[in-house]
Amino acid sequence: MKALILCGGHGTRLRPITHTMAKQLVPVANKPVLFYGLEAIRDAGIIDVGIVVGETRGEIVQAVGDGSKWGLKVTYIQQDEPLGLAHAVMVSEDFLGDDMFVVYLGDNLIKDGIKSLVDEFRTNNPNSQILLARVNEPERFGVAELANGKVVRLVEKPEKPASDLALVGVYMFDKNVMDAVKAIKPSWREELEITDAIQWLIDKGLTVDPHIINGWWKDTGRLDDMLEANRIMLDTLAPRVEGHIDGESEVLGKVVVEAGAEIINSTIRGPAIIGERTRIINSFVGPFTSIYYDVTIENSGIEHSIVLENSTIRDIPSRIEDSLIGQNVEVVRSPLKPTAYRFMLGDNSRVGIL
Ligand code: G1P
Repeated sequence: MKALILCGGHGTRLRPITHTMAKQLVPVANKPVLFYGLEAIRDAGIIDVGIVVGETRGEIVQAVGDGSKWGLKVTYIQQDEPLGLAHAVMVSEDFLGDDMFVVYLGDNLIKDGIKSLVDEFRTNNPNSQILLARVNEPERFGVAELANGKVVRLVEKPEKPASDLALVGVYMFDKNVMDAVKAIKPSWREELEITDAIQWLIDKGLTVDPHIINGWWKDTGRLDDMLEANRIMLDTLAPRVEGHIDGESEVLGKVVVEAGAEIINSTIRGPAIIGERTRIINSFVGPFTSIYYDVTIENSGIEHSIVLENSTIRDIPSRIEDSLIGQNVEVVRSPLKPTAYRFMLGDNSRVGIL
């Protein structure tokens, strides 16, 4: 059995962060989202992994390499334009051959992994197995309609969803799906939808088994979802302190302080993670916060947020919350006179001021 991880797409819903990085590499609890997927695939006993890449190929290749770090054998497959998930499967035909495979969307996170689901697919041997999860806004996803435990209809981002069962971004197929992805037509968003390919399988009378998952799942494509994923994954970390915490500081709850990090006259209230060589000075880092490496936080407070590498937050009088701060960002106090806000913001940036 093989796995296909999809890492194409422009990540428009996470701009401006995705102007300069692949959305699959944004860290959740200081680990790129994609790495959770690689671990889930390895833990399911799959070794042969194809990663479909587009314009961010360079950074994905740099981060994952040949996959040996995870005991995987990784092949990169180029998708020149993000023409849909079914299109990504189509361009992977040579890699997949006649094998059964799992498609895993590189920005999806399933807390409990996929081992039991892959085992179930191997045992029952349907033509396809889909995972469904109950969600609050089904219109943002592919939605399934079930009758007597069977899938009768799948619709991509329906205006009037027939149920609250969303398609999770992990799918299992046998070789029949290749005919489906070649037969379907582009959707209103000009993409070949995997949802339509699965509907094609159903229409042809092939077996598509639904599995409703009860565990936690998230598509991390938007800021709120990214922050929630961070909150959930931070809570799974085992506390560990490898950096330096001075005598004036307090570290409470589940906290990871990586090697070379310094906590000076500050409070860290977990769950939180402080990356390598990051310095927290006269500050408060509150629950559900991930600070990546080489960051400086001084005379400030932050919680329920993610800060990426090499950024600085200094002298901010009110607490920062619910924020995703990119690489090499400075959030600092303006000089006092003349009183004014001073910004240099990238395209699609968002600022919330008091
Ligand atoms: C894609 C699929 C959708 C699925 C979702 C899960 O949506 O098209 O059916 O529910 O992933 O993450 P997209 O991220 O392309 O909008």
